Formats: sequence, structure tokens, C-alpha cells
Amino acid sequence: MSKITAAITAVGGYVPDYVLTNKILETMVDTNDEWITARTGIKERRILKDKDKGTSFLAIQAANDLLQKSNVDPKEIDMVIMATATPDMPVAATSAYVATQIGAENAFSYDLMAACSSFLFGMSTAASYIESGKYKKIILIGADKMSSIIDYKDRTTCIIFGDGAGAVLFEPNEEGLGIQDEILRTDGNGRQSLKIDAGGSLLPPSNETIANNQHVVFQDGKTVFKFAVTRMADVSEKILERNNLTGDDIQWLVPHQANNRIIDATSRRMNLPNEKVMKNIYKYGNTTSATLPLCLHDYEKKLKKGDKLVFAAFGGGFSWGSIYLTWAYDSK
Ligand code: UT7
Repeated sequence: MSKITAAITAVGGYVPDYVLTNKILETMVDTNDEWITARTGIKERRILKDKDKGTSFLAIQAANDLLQKSNVDPKEIDMVIMATATPDMPVAATSAYVATQIGAENAFSYDLMAACSSFLFGMSTAASYIESGKYKKIILIGADKMSSIIDYKDRTTCIIFGDGAGAVLFEPNEEGLGIQDEILRTDGNGRQSLKIDAGGSLLPPSNETIANNQHVVFQDGKTVFKFAVTRMADVSEKILERNNLTGDDIQWLVPHQANNRIIDATSRRMNLPNEKVMKNIYKYGNTTSATLPLCLHDYEKKLKKGDKLVFAAFGGGFSWGSIYLTWAYDSK
């Protein structure tokens, strides 16, 4: 019996309407468009302004977009995995609410948290369930309302992040298409470099943590940059090597959109020209768990059956990795 492979068979995406440009940020913190563009590649990002809407809202829009485009009956969905760093609430999985709202009434669901690597690690999780033969239709959503955990007085973080969501459907494939290989890693020594100090079990919320501004993202950008730029490139180069591939064989790099310079370093190590690199950082910034599926959403029409894609991500933890996947359909 041939091995079941797990293929992506549909894609959806959503970003909120409000556009936070570099020019607007210039009025909020001591920064400027030139610095942000040169250091990160970001020109604007989307923000979910509605105070009464959480990450679930973004996720529901992306999943509904996927269901509409693919004509899949939500009752056939076995499982909904939600990759996120910003769940609606600390307890009561956001994915459960999302699954019910999209009509996936026969599914079970859970949230998966690994900072900016959440979606990449979620791909491995979803694929393993499919490959085992246990489930046939799994929606993996990457969604984050980063604006809910960003300090808009901190110029080192507020210029980077944005809100958004993307979703993919994983199904079994009989032609060997889909996920081929993965290299996934974590290193807990990095946890002080990219974190939110308070609100967890180690430092529960208190008047003190609020007064100390400990509920927002802190990033030691330089340290994270150094790790990200080498680790993401290392695993992407290695996954090519061990699958006997060179840059010429690859049609697309799907990189986490954290910094244009990190993306370029990774594509250089893989010998990939710019035209083979998915980029939307300039218009969305870093949407954390949503960067990879939003890339697929934006580039879906260019993808062809059999195309070889390498996904790469790096995030808090530290966490990072690379996945090699062959695309399973021609977009209509
Ligand atoms: O997605 C999760 C993983 N995260 C990442 O991969 C992010 C990795 N890190 C980065 O992308 C970059 O480190 C940043 C974009 C965050 C920062 O870029 P950088 O080139 O590493 O800048 P830096 O932190 O070394 O700061 C350089 C200078 C400093 O001034 P001095 O000390 O040289 O006078 C900063 O104070 O730029 C200053 N600076 C700013 N200036 C204008 C820092 N932020 C800003 C700003 N506008 N927004």
C-alpha cells in the first residue's frame, strides 16, 4: 500500500480594512518611513480596530473564505487547528468557537501556540493526522490580532506587527503530493529575547504587572535577528540538500514575513532569485501565525500542480523550521 500524503487543497485569507501606514506611525512614535522601510521592508500593516472583536473574528473570515472558494461542506471537516499567539481568552480554545461559527459541527479542535512558528508546526500536526489515515479533512488556521498585545508607544515593536488570518485545508493525496519533509526545532534559551512577561502562570496579571507594562510584546530585536537570519537559512538549505534539490528545482520559497533582510538571507542561501520568493511584508507587516497562509492566499493563482515549495519560519521560544511541500492543484 502506498503511503498517504497530506496535501493542501484549498486556501483562504482575511485582513482587516484599517491600514496603519509608516506615515501614521511617524505621528505616534519617534520613527520614520525611511528607517522602517530600510530595516524591515514594511510600508503598512492592517489593524482590527473593533474593540469587541478578537482573533476569532479574523480566523472565521479566513476559514469562511476557504469554505466558499472550495465548496467544501463544513459538516465534513474532521478537525480545526488554530495556530495563534493571541487567543481570544487564555482558557476556552479559540478554535472551538471558530469551528462552531463556521459550521464545522462534526469537528474537534484545539489551539496550537509556538509564536511565529505556530503555523509551520501546525502544518506538521495536521499532516500527521492525515497521513495516519485517521482524519480526511483538517482546516489549519493561522490568525493573530497582534495589535492586542503591542505597545503603540514602543517604536521597536509597534512598527513591525499587524493583524490578519489565513487558512488552508489538508486532505489525503493519492499522487504523492503534499508534505514531503520537515525540519522543526526549538531552543528555550531564547525565551527572554522575545516574550510577554506577564499574564501566564509564572507572573499572573496584577496591578503591578499592568503598572510595569508587562502585558505587551518585548523583543530584543538584534539577538532575535541574529538567530533568525542563520537558523532559518540553515534549515532551508538543509532541507534542499537532504532531498537532493537545488534552488533551480524549487518554484517558491514561502518565508515567515518578519523582516525583508531575513527573507533575503534565506533565499540567497537557497540560491533562489527574488521572483521565486513570496513576499507581502510590505503591506501586512509581521502577522505572526498568519504570515505563511496569507502568502499562499496572495500567490495562490500563480501556483501550479507539482510546484515545489519550501516553507520557512522563525519565532519566539526560540522556534524555527522548514517544510518541503509539493503543490496539489492548479488554481482556477
Ligand atoms: O517574527 C518573530 C521573529 N522576529 C524577528 O525575526 C525580528 C528580528 N529583528 C529585526 O527584524 C530587527 O532587529 C528590527 C527590525 C527589530 C530592528 O532592526 P535593527 O537593524 O536590528 O535595529 P537595532 O535594533 O539595532 O536599532 C538600530 C538603531 C538604534 O539606534 P542607535 O542605538 O543606533 O542610536 C535604535 O534605537 O535604530 C533605532 N531604532 C529606530 N529608529 C527609528 C529602533 N527602532 C526604531 C524605529 N525607528 N522604529
